[in-house]
Amino acid sequence: MKRLALALALLATAAVARADEAPALFSQKCAVCHGKDGKGTPAGQKMGAKDLTALKLSHEDLVKDISNGQGKMPAFKGKLTDAQIESLAKYVKGGLK
Ligand code: HEC
Repeated sequence: MKRLALALALLATAAVARADEAPALFSQKCAVCHGKDGKGTPAGQKMGAKDLTALKLSHEDLVKDISNGQGKMPAFKGKLTDAQIESLAKYVKGGLK
């Protein structure tokens, strides 16, 4: 029983760590085109990137777009784990805060 509690505690910590990972992941993998504020770097805007903070997409659509890419945006499925894509989608949905 103690062991189970410990395992659950570890899982909870891992989930929190994953959620907190989104800002760092975003600046590593996304900010080149989208800018740290999500509004798009000049290069990103030239490729057609829109202001990510103004999107009205559902969480599911965000996950799909990040996984499969779109237009000049590369697909991230296989480069990031599903959990990382999920947490990035949440981060974008939350206005990059
Ligand atoms: C090489 C540049 C580039 C990188 C890197 C990049 N994107 Fe994009 N992204 C784009 C472009 C360009 C678009 C616009 C695509 C279109 O509509 O043609 C876009 C669109 C999007 C959209 C909106 C899709 C829609 O339906 O309007 C989301 C959400 C998004 N990107 C998230 C991310 C996330 C999260 C990352 C990092 C994991 C990322 N992008 C990395 C260039 C990039």
